[in-house]
Parts: sequence; C-alpha cells; structure tokens
Amino acid sequence: MTDAEFRAVYEATGMYDRLLLPHYFGGIEDVDLIGTWLDEHYGAPISALEVTEFGCGTGRMTEALAPFARNLVLVDDSEVMISAVSRRFPDARTLCADAGDATQSLLAAGRAQSFDLVTAFWSLSYPIGAFFEELTAAGVRPHPDQATARDRAHAFVVDLLRLVAPGGHLLAMLFDAESPEQQLVTRAWEIVAPFPDGGRSYTRDVLIHALRSAESQGVGTLTHTRRGGVAWAPSARAALEWFFGVHFKHHPRLLADTDLAAAVAEFVECNTMPNGGVALPSGVHMIDFRVGAHPATSVPKGLRA
Ligand SMILES: C[S@@+](CC[C@H](N)C(=O)[O-])C[C@H]1O[C@@H](n2cnc3c(N)ncnc32)[C@H](O)[C@@H]1O
Repeated sequence: MTDAEFRAVYEATGMYDRLLLPHYFGGIEDVDLIGTWLDEHYGAPISALEVTEFGCGTGRMTEALAPFARNLVLVDDSEVMISAVSRRFPDARTLCADAGDATQSLLAAGRAQSFDLVTAFWSLSYPIGAFFEELTAAGVRPHPDQATARDRAHAFVVDLLRLVAPGGHLLAMLFDAESPEQQLVTRAWEIVAPFPDGGRSYTRDVLIHALRSAESQGVGTLTHTRRGGVAWAPSARAALEWFFGVHFKHHPRLLADTDLAAAVAEFVECNTMPNGGVALPSGVHMIDFRVGAHPATSVPKGLRA
C-alpha cells in the first residue's frame, strides 16, 4: 500500500462518487435537507447570494446551493475533486487548498464579511482534525502541543465566521461520532492511534465550543440539531466497500486486521434488510450559525421596541 492508494477515495477519479452511500434522515436525503433549509430561509432560488463551500468534493451538495448563488467559491484540497467540480460548475471560482489556508487567502483578498453563506458538508472534521494530528499511510503523528492545536483550531472557526456577511450563515453538516456506525469506525481507527480528548467527537466539540463562545460575545446565534437516520447500501458488498474505502480510506493497517474485518461483516449482516439492502444506522449534526443575529432577537418584537 502506498500513499497514493491510501485516501484513494478522495484522490482517484470517480472513486468518491462510486463508493458514496446515500444518507437518509427521516426519509429525506442529506442534499434535500439542505435544499429545504435554503427554501425556508430564502424562498425560491434567487441567484443572489455570495456562497462558498469548503470540502465541496465532486459538487453533490453544490447542486442544492448553486440555484441560490450569484457567485460560488468552491474549496477542496484534492485536485481530483476540484477538477470534477470545475467541470460540473464551470462558472464557479475554485480553490485547491486546505480549508484553513483557503480561509486565510479569502480574508487576505478582502472577503471578510462578504459571504451570505459559508458552508461545509461532511468535511469540516478534516481541517479541524489536521490541527491535532497528521494522518498518512505510515501512521498518525499527533501534534506535540495539543493545547496549541486546540487554540489554532478555535481560531480557524473564528476566521470562518469572519467570512460571513451580517445576516448570513455558517452552515455545516458533521458526522455523528456516537452513532453505531461511527462507533465501529472509531474502534477501527483506534487500532492506528488514540484520539484526542472526547474521542472522534472532538472536532465537533471544537466547532460547537467556538460557536458558543462567538454567540456569548454577541456575534450571532447558534442552532444545532442532530438527526438520526441511515446510510443505505444496495448490497452487503457496497456496505463493505463503504467501510473499507470511505471510512477506513484503504489504510493498510485496517485492511490487514482480521478482527476488524469480522466485526464489520457482523455489523453489516445485522443491518441487512430482507431485500438484501443494508441500512447502516447513522446520524448527522446540522449546525447553523447566523451572524449578526444577537441573542436578543429571540425576544418578541413588541417587547424589544
Ligand atoms: C466526505 S467528503 C464530502 C464531500 C461533499 N461535501 C459531499 O457532501 O459530498 C470530504 C471532502 O473534504 C475534502 N477535504 C478533506 N480534507 C480537507 C481539507 N483539509 N481542506 C479542504 N478540503 C478537505 C475531501 O477532499 C473531500 O472532497
């Protein structure tokens, strides 16, 4: 196994779209949850918003954002993803960069307080996690100073918020580390290395903590919901590929572990439906921070006047 094969899900053309399983929450696919959120907040597609998406991948969620956008800035640190999304959205501006570096470039280019929507779907845990540890095919190298890592990750979230225009939103979807599916994923990665405090939910904790602090300082208001649902695999084979290709990213230590292979096979079997499909119990955290909405805006207008 080489570095090229490890993380092939994000580095090999077509692999992400082939392995990705659709996720349904209350019968609604994740992309449609975002479509509904956009309809609720802006009504019909208005082609008027300044929108950026971090970790855009091949543009699956961008499809929901694009009809609302006047200008789209799409960020991903994988060249393969950026090349796919550029073909799909030729009018968008693309940045092939780490989310933290892209945030700094956008701020340096005068884009502070200029985006109506700063979004990241199933992707923010990577740049936040990268402050704490570096993951390669050879292993995991934790940052020697975890307190500094936490401060830098916090500053990254604050900088993301600085991109949002008054009245705009930072909108993110994050995986639910406590779901049965993700608990199995955590158990697997602990074969490679332990996680910082709080297990694999630590990236979400960093994000929520930074947003709660911003709310306390009157920067805006946080709405955070968690939905239960499933990742739906059409077959046991697709479910196994999902675990080993997407969750375990073909990491050599995890591919070679026979106990892990047995645990995944048992989990898949337990969740196989009579029609042969596999409904993997999953969850999503939807995080919406509205900038400029002081908590006092929750007081009914009559009382505030
Ligand atoms: C799980 S995929 C989600 C893709 C897309 N948002 C979706 O919902 O289909 C995560 C994406 O984040 C990108 N990514 C990972 N680490 C990143 C980083 N540090 N900065 C920017 N993008 C990153 C990956 O290349 C990948 O496209």
